[in-house]
Amino acid sequence: MASADTTSYAPLTEDTEADVTVIGGGIAGLCTAWELSRTGRRVVVLEADRIAAGVTGYTTAKLSSLHTLVYDRLRRTRGSGAALQYAVSQQGAVERVAEVAQELGIDCELERFPAFTYVRDPAGTDQLRAEADAAREAGLPASYVTETGLPFDVAGAVRVEDQLLFHPRKYLLALAEDLRGRGGGVYERTRATGLHEGSPCRVTTETGATVTSREVVVATHYPVFDRALLFTRLSPRRELVVAAPIETGRDIGGMYITEEEGKRSVRTAPYGADRRLLVVTGETFTPGTGDTIERFKKLADWTVRNFPGTEIAYRWAAQDNDSTDTVPLIGPFHPGARHTYVATGFGGWGLSGGVLAGSLLTGLITGDPPPWAGLYDPRRLWGPVREAPAFLSHQAKVGMHFIGDRLRTTHVDSVADIPPGTGAVVRVGGQRAAVYRDEEGTVQAVSARCTHLGCLVAFNAAETAWECPCHGSRFGTEGTVLQGPALHPLEQLDLGRDV
Ligand SMILES: Cc1cc2nc3c(=O)[nH]c(=O)nc-3n(C[C@H](O)[C@H](O)[C@H](O)COP(=O)(O)OP(=O)(O)OC[C@H]3O[C@@H](n4cnc5c(N)ncnc54)[C@H](O)[C@@H]3O)c2cc1C
Ligand code: FES
Repeated sequence: MASADTTSYAPLTEDTEADVTVIGGGIAGLCTAWELSRTGRRVVVLEADRIAAGVTGYTTAKLSSLHTLVYDRLRRTRGSGAALQYAVSQQGAVERVAEVAQELGIDCELERFPAFTYVRDPAGTDQLRAEADAAREAGLPASYVTETGLPFDVAGAVRVEDQLLFHPRKYLLALAEDLRGRGGGVYERTRATGLHEGSPCRVTTETGATVTSREVVVATHYPVFDRALLFTRLSPRRELVVAAPIETGRDIGGMYITEEEGKRSVRTAPYGADRRLLVVTGETFTPGTGDTIERFKKLADWTVRNFPGTEIAYRWAAQDNDSTDTVPLIGPFHPGARHTYVATGFGGWGLSGGVLAGSLLTGLITGDPPPWAGLYDPRRLWGPVREAPAFLSHQAKVGMHFIGDRLRTTHVDSVADIPPGTGAVVRVGGQRAAVYRDEEGTVQAVSARCTHLGCLVAFNAAETAWECPCHGSRFGTEGTVLQGPALHPLEQLDLGRDV
C-alpha cells in the first residue's frame, strides 16, 4: 500500500447497464473483469472502498503453485487427476501474470525464485517427502531438499522452481486502467447492497444507483448475498505480517513457508538500491479471539531472532478464508444459479487463485470453461458432506461464538472498567454494547451484535477494530464495515447516563 499509487475512481451515481457486473475489486474481481473485457464484454466493477486495497493490498504476494502442503492431500482425497488439475491451473495462473505483465508493459516487480515448504522438526520430513513426490507427479518441477537460502538449518523442504514474486497492486491498477480503456467501468466507494437474480440480474448499491447486467460475479472475498449458505463452508483466518529492511547481500533467494510455530511465511521484496524488504507472516487466528498485541510481539521476536540485526519497519494484518475441503470455491454461485458466480475460499493462496478465477469465470461465462473447472466448482460441497470433520469443526466453532461464551476476554461488567485506548463488550440496559474508549477518554458505543448473522463481536486492541469470530466481519469503532460479509454498520448506541 505504501509503494504503489493510490486510486480515486468516482462512485457510481447513475443507473447503468453492462454485460457483466463484478462486485469486489480485489485480485479475483479485477482479473475476472479484465479477462472478460478482453472478450469484448462491457464490464462494470463495483468496489465498496478502493480497488486492490482489501486483502489483496495486504498480502505477502507470492505467486506460486506450491501451497504449503496440498498435492499429497489432494492425491489421497480426490485422486491424482485432481492433483494434476490443481498444478496445471495454479501454475497456469503464475505464468498468466508474467504473460499479461509483458503484454501490457506493467512494471510490477516480477522476480523468478524457487518456492519452499520447510520443516525444522525432523518428525515432519516424511510428510514433505510425500508432498514433493505428489507435486512432481502432478507435473511441477519439485524436489525434496535439505539446503535452503534461509539463515537457519531446516530438517527438510519441498522445492519448486520457477515461481514468481510480484507487486499485486502495481499489476492490478494497470489492469483496471486497461479495462477502462476497453470501455469498462470501475466504481469505488460503491458498496453493492442487493442482488436480484433474473434475466437480467440487478445489483443495487449504497449510493442508490443500480447496475443491470446479464451476469454477476460476486468477488467480495467473503461472499455477500450468500444464497448458497457458503458461510457454512468457509472459516476466516487472520494473519499478522511484519517487515524489515535487510541488505541485499543477506537475501534468502526464494519464498518460504512452514506450518510450524503458528505458521511462518517469508519472502523479500525490492526496497531501494541496496536493500530488500524482508516480509514475514504468521500467528494465524480466528478474528476476534485472543491477544493480537502479544501475537505481533511473538512474530517480531521470531523475525529478529532468525534475522539478527533487523528492525521491524512495518506491521499489518489481513485475513483469508479456508474452505472446508481446502480447495477454493470458484464457479456458479449456488446450485440453481444461471447467471451468478462466486470466487472465494482461497485459503491463503488467492493470488494465483484470483488470477485463475479470472480465467475460469471468463470460460464459464463465454461457454468455454477450462478442463479443470470442475475441481473448483462450489456445488461440489452440496452433495454428501465429504469434508465432514472440517465442516463440523467450523459449525461447532460458530455455534460456540453465537452463544458468546468464548469471548469473555473482552467482556467487562461496566463501562468504567474500560481503560483508555481499549474496547470491551458490556451489558447495558438488557443489550450488549461494544464500547471503545479512546486515548482522550471519549466513549463510543455500538451494538455488539454483528449485522451479518448476529454473533457477538470482540475487540482487537492491536488494530483498534471490532471483529466477529463467526465469519470474520470487521468493524471500526464507530461501527463502519471494514470487512464483510456484513453489509451494514453496527448500530450506534447512546449510553446516556450508563457511561
Ligand atoms: C497475511 C496474508 C498473506 C497472504 N499471502 C499470500 C501469498 O503470498 N500468496 C497468495 O497467493 N495468497 C496470499 N494470501 C491470500 C490472498 O492475499 C487472498 O486470497 C486474495 O488477496 C483474496 O483476493 P480477493 O479478491 O478474494 O479479496 P479482496 O482483495 O479482499 O477483494 C475483495 C474486495 O471486495 C470488496 N467488497 C466487499 N464487499 C463488497 C460489497 N458489498 N460491494 C462491493 N465491494 C465489496 C472489498 O472492499 C475488497 O476490495 C495472503 C493472505 C493473507 C491474509
Ligand atoms: S460475520 Fe457472520 S455473524 Fe458476524
